[in-house]
Amino acid sequence: MMQDIAMYILDLANNSLYANARNINICLIVDRQVDRLQLSISDDGQGMEDFIVEQATDPFYTTRKTRKIGLGLAFFKALADQCDGEFTLKSKKGVGTTVMIDIRNSHIDTPPIGDLSSTLITLIQADDLVDYRFTYRYDHQEFEFDTRKIKSMLDDVKINELNILLWIKEFLSERINELQEGKR
Ligand SMILES: Nc1ncnc2c1ncn2[C@@H]1O[C@H](COP(=O)(O)OP(=O)(O)OP(=O)(O)O)[C@@H](O)[C@H]1O
Ligand SMILES: [Mg+2]
Repeated sequence: MMQDIAMYILDLANNSLYANARNINICLIVDRQVDRLQLSISDDGQGMEDFIVEQATDPFYTTRKTRKIGLGLAFFKALADQCDGEFTLKSKKGVGTTVMIDIRNSHIDTPPIGDLSSTLITLIQADDLVDYRFTYRYDHQEFEFDTRKIKSMLDDVKINELNILLWIKEFLSERINELQEGKR
């Protein structure tokens, strides 16, 4: 199992990158009123054939060449089973993939949110040709971050240049803290 939600995001977005996605949407919704935490990651990567979708959450199914087991999706599904929730995997070959969980927020096994801004910075840094939209809703407040908007403000500078990344990191930390302030 993974320590926090941010690490699940990193792991699942890494699957999307591995599938050559150019656009990755990450959506995290925490609603304490209905006591749910929803996380979805969708991409426009190569997708999976139907028969692979069925096996993809099996720990012994992987298309990686470096290791014989693939645990990312299996862990994510296990988290849903453990936390009174549901797991959904939708994928279409040549179109993309969406993976989602909807779990009970107050469940004892529901992991803490973790360091979302570090996860996002790590992803942005990895490849400046990939775009991310990150939507984070906590109760009635919402924050949206889109790398396309940042890129449109940068002239000749790449989004993964260190000083830009440091600026984004500070911006994200600030906005995310604001959203989470005094909650949970
Ligand atoms: N977003 C995605 N797009 C296309 N195929 C995917 C995606 N996510 C997972 N898969 C397919 O499902 C398989 C299992 O994924 P999973 O994350 O469980 O394991 P892995 O990535 O192979 O290994 P690990 O996550 O342990 O490094 C992958 O090998 C890949 O074939
Ligand atoms: Mg994986």
